[in-house]
Amino acid sequence: MNKPIAPTPPMGWNSWNTFGWNINEELIKGIADTMAESGLKDAGYEYIVIDDCWSEKQRDENGRLVPDKNKFPNGIKAVADYVHSKGLKFGIYSCAGTHTCAGYPGSFEHEFVDAETFAEWGVDYLKYDYCYKPDYIPGEILYKRMAMALRNCGRDIVFSACNWGNDGVYNWIRESGAQLFRSTGDIQDNWESIKRNALSQIGNSCYSGTYCYNDIDMLVVGMHGKGDNEEVLRDCLEGCTDTEYKTHFSIWAIMNSPLMIGCDIRKMSESTKNILMNKDVIALNQDPECRGPYCIKQWNNRDNVMTLIKPMVDGSYGIVMFNLGDKKSEMSLQFWDMGLPFSSGRGLSMYNCWTHEEEGVFTERYVTQVESHDCVVLRARVVKL
Ligand code: GAL
Repeated sequence: MNKPIAPTPPMGWNSWNTFGWNINEELIKGIADTMAESGLKDAGYEYIVIDDCWSEKQRDENGRLVPDKNKFPNGIKAVADYVHSKGLKFGIYSCAGTHTCAGYPGSFEHEFVDAETFAEWGVDYLKYDYCYKPDYIPGEILYKRMAMALRNCGRDIVFSACNWGNDGVYNWIRESGAQLFRSTGDIQDNWESIKRNALSQIGNSCYSGTYCYNDIDMLVVGMHGKGDNEEVLRDCLEGCTDTEYKTHFSIWAIMNSPLMIGCDIRKMSESTKNILMNKDVIALNQDPECRGPYCIKQWNNRDNVMTLIKPMVDGSYGIVMFNLGDKKSEMSLQFWDMGLPFSSGRGLSMYNCWTHEEEGVFTERYVTQVESHDCVVLRARVVKL
């Protein structure tokens, strides 16, 4: 590794949310085809990651991981090669403990040999879970170990730590060498879950930034309650509405979370495409400075209605005003809360990132109505009056 990897939050697709254990070579190739042809790749999505359940239950006689012979009859390298042939990158999954969460072999005390195997297969991204971790050894050491193994395996492999925010991960993960870290429990395809994960990380911006991002979990955008993963679909019925997915995507984007799609992209609706490929919202996520947003809560509905504001490298500001509550709400953003008093002789020129229209120049404040579970996303530029 001679230059830093993951200079902005990784974007891609992961098999877990929709497919769970039900993965195979054909599926991954089909996903790669769709990623390359549907516009997702052009919008910035790059990694195709196979999550848990890809290996045999036992290592081979040399202690190496073995791909499941039925799911991946040609091995993992063949799949990685195919993904690379589409101009995309390939990711895989293992675990800091003795077993993965679904009971397959984990990398505990096999870190270096596994990193070597992944490099040989052409892996570009490793998600690293936290199940079956021996109690006597701190997780911090195990993530440092795998980070060291990956950083010395001869290939650039993004290290995606996944210990669900446990054990004070914020205080040691950047130093470990990981490029991203999960801070939350598993997302489900329902509004309460989206809300819970988002609210739990507001205020944690200082822990997320260039080369080490706070991962609020994979996206459920476009799932609409469909898939084989019963855990992700528990209590979900029809999943979420498109409005809820739009708000979910906007919050994840402005909070610098990796944007890892979890739906079956081969069957995306037009609304799902419009959400996932909104270049103006993705631009908020991929800003080269990767500063996290600060939060201003609406004084009369502090628990549900708030605004996230992120300084962008070009001097503009990304703004997401959202209403997590069950009633429509008026929201107002006072510009002095952002550092812009009227006495400055300046106002904000607002561009709406969902309607893709300029809304004009505003002074002192911006007021809007936000429907229940909806959001307004703006790119604000400071202008002289
Ligand atoms: C969980 C993890 C999920 C998924 C699952 C696989 O621990 O948070 O994102 O990877 O394990 O078993």
